[in-house]
Formats: sequence, structure tokens, C-alpha cells
Amino acid sequence: MDASPEIHTAFDAADLAWDVSAALIRIAQEAIQARGVCHLALSGGSTPIPAYALLALPEWRARLDWSKVQVYWGDERCVPPDHPQSNYLNAKTSLLDPVKIPPTNVHRIKGELPPAEAAQDYEREIAGITFDLILLGMGDDGHTASLFPGTPILLEQSRRVAEVYVPHLDSWRVSLTLSTLNSARTVMFMVSGATKADRIQEILKNEGGANARPAGLVRPTRLIWMLDREAAGRL
Ligand code: 6PG
Repeated sequence: MDASPEIHTAFDAADLAWDVSAALIRIAQEAIQARGVCHLALSGGSTPIPAYALLALPEWRARLDWSKVQVYWGDERCVPPDHPQSNYLNAKTSLLDPVKIPPTNVHRIKGELPPAEAAQDYEREIAGITFDLILLGMGDDGHTASLFPGTPILLEQSRRVAEVYVPHLDSWRVSLTLSTLNSARTVMFMVSGATKADRIQEILKNEGGANARPAGLVRPTRLIWMLDREAAGRL
């Protein structure tokens, strides 16, 4: 990472959704202006859903030419695309359907395939792509995408996508690897709530050191932490 992280604290979760949506549109517009396209990877989990819903509103969706946005995911649960746990399904219903993005612009991780096959398929899907923006969340344990503490995917050096079994969830996932996250032009974390405050302090005060949490290992060219007051409560 060249520059130090940009840290933005919003008043509450609603303001955070607004600020993340505005930043996403700005970064996407800059990419489209520069290269005619924005390669955007969406986050899973619940935190970004209010931002997706905002971006889907008529007055917001008019601010971005979604036909010039290629949409991907940072990770996916190994479930079918119509499963309630699917990150694809959640983004499709809250954002992609309302903004009427061309189906050919949507590049989902095929969670219905066996994990290794899904990872190989997605590696082909993103071949040659540099992500303009990867939106990430963070769990209480400092995981991000499906890079969980102590999992072998954290050590992956050659693959851009990998399958990972998460023991405490007893489930398989497919995720961009750390090197892919770090090769993005911009990574923007969106983190909300008091349960994440300790981890945010540990990561942003770099108290993790050699044992840094996965989210603390994400060091792209441009790194933005979008927090609400509760998540930033220990800074
Ligand atoms: C996922 C996400 C994961 C998520 C964090 C935070 O597939 O679940 O990629 O990394 O961002 O677990 O989840 P919440 O936003 O629900 O707290």
C-alpha cells in the first residue's frame, strides 16, 4: 500500500450507508471516466445491504451509468444462487435488479458448484481484471471476505481465487485471495456496530503486528475505512 488508510467516521449506520454509497458512485464514475468501465466487487454480509438499497433508489441510480459497471463479489457461500445465504441473491434483490444492470455485467461466483470447481470457474471469470473498487465487510474476529483467521487461504500466493472450508461455520466458501484484494486500485471497508470496535482499534492501531487479523492484511494502493461511530468507538 502506498498511502496510509483513509478513515471516515459516520454518525450512525444510516449515515454510513449514505457515505459509502456516495463514495462508491464517485470511485465508479472516476473509473468509467478514466477507462470506460468500472470493475466493482461487492461485499457479502448484512452491513452493506442499506447501502445497496440506497443506491437502488431512483434518485441515486440515476447518478451512475450501471451499464458501464461490471459487478463481481469478494466471496460467496457455497450455496445455490437462490439460497437465502447467497451473497449474490442479496445483492441481486437489493441492488442489481432495481438498477437494471445488464445480466452480462454480473459475474457471480457459482456457489452451486463443488467448491474447487467454483473457484476455478471464478478465476477464469476474473482473468485479466484489475478491480477498481472492492467493497469489504469485517467480522468480529477480523475476517474479511472469506479470509478467516487461521485458514490456509491466507497463505495462498499464486491463485487469485480459492475455496476455503471454515471449521467454525462447518461450511465451504469461495473467496478472492489476499493478493487479489491487495491488487485492487481501491478497497473500501464498511464496518458498523460496537461489536467490531475492539477489532477496528487492533487493526487501525496495528496492534496485531505479525499476527494481524485478515482485515489488517488488506493493503491495496488506496484503502478506505468507512465506519460508524460505534465501530470507531475505540479509536
Ligand atoms: C460474507 C462476507 C463477510 C462479511 C463479514 C461481516 O460473505 O459474510 O463476505 O466477510 O462481510 O462477515 O458481516 P456483517 O456485515 O453481516 O457483519
